[in-house]
Amino acid sequence: MAPVTSLTASVHQRLATALSAALPEAADADPLLRRSDRADYQANGILALAKKAKANPRELAGQVVERVDSGELIKDVEVSGPGFLNITVTDRAIIANLAARTDDTDGRLGVPHAANPGTTVVDYAQPNVAKEMHVGHLRSAVIGDSVVQLLEFTGENVVRRHHIGDWGTQFGMLIQYLDEHPHELDHKSEQVTGEEAMSNLDRLYKAARRLFDSDEEFKGRARRRVVDLQAGEPHTLAAWQKFVDESKIYFFSVFDKLDMEISDPDIVGESGYNDMLAETCRLLEESGVAVRSEGALCVFFDDVKGPDGKPVPLIVQKSDGGYGYAATDLSAIRDRVFALKANSLIYVVDARQALHFKMVFETARRAGWLGDDVHAHQLAFGTVLGKDGKPFKTREGETIRLVDLLDEAIDRATAVVREKDTQHRLSDEEIAERGTQVGIGAVKYADLSTSANRDYKFDLDQMVSLNGDTSVYLQYAYARIQSILRKSGEARPAAHPELDLHEAERALGLHADAFAEAVAEAAGEYAPHKLAAYLYQLASLYTTFYDKCPVLKAETPEQVENRLFLCDATARTLHQGMALLGIRTPERL
Ligand code: ARG
Repeated sequence: MAPVTSLTASVHQRLATALSAALPEAADADPLLRRSDRADYQANGILALAKKAKANPRELAGQVVERVDSGELIKDVEVSGPGFLNITVTDRAIIANLAARTDDTDGRLGVPHAANPGTTVVDYAQPNVAKEMHVGHLRSAVIGDSVVQLLEFTGENVVRRHHIGDWGTQFGMLIQYLDEHPHELDHKSEQVTGEEAMSNLDRLYKAARRLFDSDEEFKGRARRRVVDLQAGEPHTLAAWQKFVDESKIYFFSVFDKLDMEISDPDIVGESGYNDMLAETCRLLEESGVAVRSEGALCVFFDDVKGPDGKPVPLIVQKSDGGYGYAATDLSAIRDRVFALKANSLIYVVDARQALHFKMVFETARRAGWLGDDVHAHQLAFGTVLGKDGKPFKTREGETIRLVDLLDEAIDRATAVVREKDTQHRLSDEEIAERGTQVGIGAVKYADLSTSANRDYKFDLDQMVSLNGDTSVYLQYAYARIQSILRKSGEARPAAHPELDLHEAERALGLHADAFAEAVAEAAGEYAPHKLAAYLYQLASLYTTFYDKCPVLKAETPEQVENRLFLCDATARTLHQGMALLGIRTPERL
């Protein structure tokens, strides 16, 4: 469908035109339009402009009022205070614009595609092979997935990269152990679930570690095995591949539980850049960006110093010849910029890795791999805290397995759904399905509704609460609308722009019309929490509307249709918005 200009953009356009007519030197000046409590909008850019032009602000504001083309859009515009403008739009415009927005079959609600989309690589959901996923892996997956959805919705060409930890010295140990104990990864049946595969691997890892620590000879064999792996010895590589495959089965089962689509070709882990590492180092050394220091290849920074005042370098190659995390990330940048032709690189990674990325980006800039035309950004996220405000751990002080956490959320949500179903209309199967959608939604929403860089408390009681800023509240708003639409009998949603609107209808309609702006802002700033805030506001305005304006018992058939139309527009906006956060909206709850 054709994109629909929002009321905000239309009002802005008309004010800007009137303003440049009143003050020709302000040809492309911004009237600075904001939503306002006093009227629908307030323009407060005139003050500064008048000052600059040495004009009287109230007079200039008056001239804008005289010149503004109100048409069927603007009901009222008046000067207020020292030179503000208060603008009210017509009831007709609100309904007509929303009707244009919902007159689609593609679910885009009139949101335009970017005129010149670029290519963005999003690096997210990057667990480590042979290790269980823990709560720390939740945020990267959840935030990354939403950022990907948001960017794709705006028309950006997105390349997903799951930079899993699948390379390094611990694999020599594992491979050697598996070689000496070949039956430990055998499965009883063909159908091995991810969690089962992972607990096998976990067991193997622990056994290998025990032997490594207690048996010097094994230790020696394991170390030689790392060298074989890095040299690409076929038998060793095949064994390593087996670990990766087992781990992936597990990763996929967790992503599946998270209701998240991750596809295999996008999993390009640390090992994927192995062939580039030597060249990356050579280029850095030849260009003088990196220098040898005590045998290691290092990059130094004036502003990165340790507590002792000595510079802390980025180590690209260790003195024993081994490559580290930095070499891999630098090689990945070369791949993403030169092969994938990315304009933007986004890394959804824990804030505790901020120094690493600062140094990696700076190194890549010095080497000329990141030019002015490429934007590199760590979308850093904070820590998940327990109720006590400390990093989330089990009572025994261990890290919490992500699957356990998700299962608990699903259990809690299932209980809430069951409790709410007082008339026993849902089957056990339906309760289980909704419990999953509500539980996973609750976890995702709690994560996405706070700005990523902040820590947040993992509080399941709060997360599955029906009141307040939770996904359940939004899901119930959606389900309630669907129930009204089902009960409406003959009456169908239909827009009636000729009707006078209640204040609550106006507020709801205006906010629903602003969906495109909320999406653009959230996508542009990689900030899903802005979309979450928009949706919460939408659901709250709906609640007020529902309290104040009877829908099926409205005064006239036209009013019933028009209110159904507002309900439907709200529901579609909630549905699409939640989808961009990766959250389901069940039709019944
Ligand atoms: N695997 C790493 C971890 O678990 C995160 C990888 C982040 N991405 C990157 N390109 N370094 O901490």
